[in-house]
Amino acid sequence: MKLFLDTANVEEIRQGVQWGLVDGVTTNPSLAAKEKGTGFETIVKQILKETPGPVSIEVVATDYEGMMEQALRISRLGDNAVVKIPMTLEGLRATKTLKSKGIAVNCTLIFNPVQALLAAKSGAEYVSPFVGRLDDIGEDGMSIIEQIKTIFTNYDIETKILVASIRNPLHVLRSAIMGADVVTIPFDVLKKLPSHPKTDEGLVRFLSDWKKIFPDGRFPL
Ligand code: E4P
Repeated sequence: MKLFLDTANVEEIRQGVQWGLVDGVTTNPSLAAKEKGTGFETIVKQILKETPGPVSIEVVATDYEGMMEQALRISRLGDNAVVKIPMTLEGLRATKTLKSKGIAVNCTLIFNPVQALLAAKSGAEYVSPFVGRLDDIGEDGMSIIEQIKTIFTNYDIETKILVASIRNPLHVLRSAIMGADVVTIPFDVLKKLPSHPKTDEGLVRFLSDWKKIFPDGRFPL
């Protein structure tokens, strides 16, 4: 399962890449708005350069012609640019045209499995179901991942399931068990993934036992 960072913050991406934990990045207009100190164009170019994989950048037009115009501009930014298109009829039409031009689309704002099926049929490279926002309204967001996985398996659909709106490590675990292709994770959740209190406790004990042999902490090998 690939790990993408869900951010438009270049520092977070650099840090995640140094840890070797970033296979790609997803952005959206709300994440871009958090970084408004620097021009968005500059930020996007930096993100595309520093990310060792696909970077989703979202159109903000809602009509077919406008989406197509913005999508073509996004795709020209770099080989790893993926166009994020919202799940609407106009978006599906744009997705089909972009597929015919060999341009990868991430279909966003997916909240049920039929939307995912339509996006896949239109040629989307990724579908982004938003699990956290479903949990927020009292639904079990992860259940739609299971359903999408079943549908895609039934029909040998190659579109990748990119689990979005991740809120906690449990979302990541359940995504992996269900066989999602990608999870896109906020930086604060990424940092939590390697943590376990017994790991911390075990490390403290190992280091203090080592000092019983070498009080100065020396490593003599
Ligand atoms: C997906 O690509 C979106 O950027 C993102 O996961 C939305 O998450 P949110 O519900 O935390 O805003």
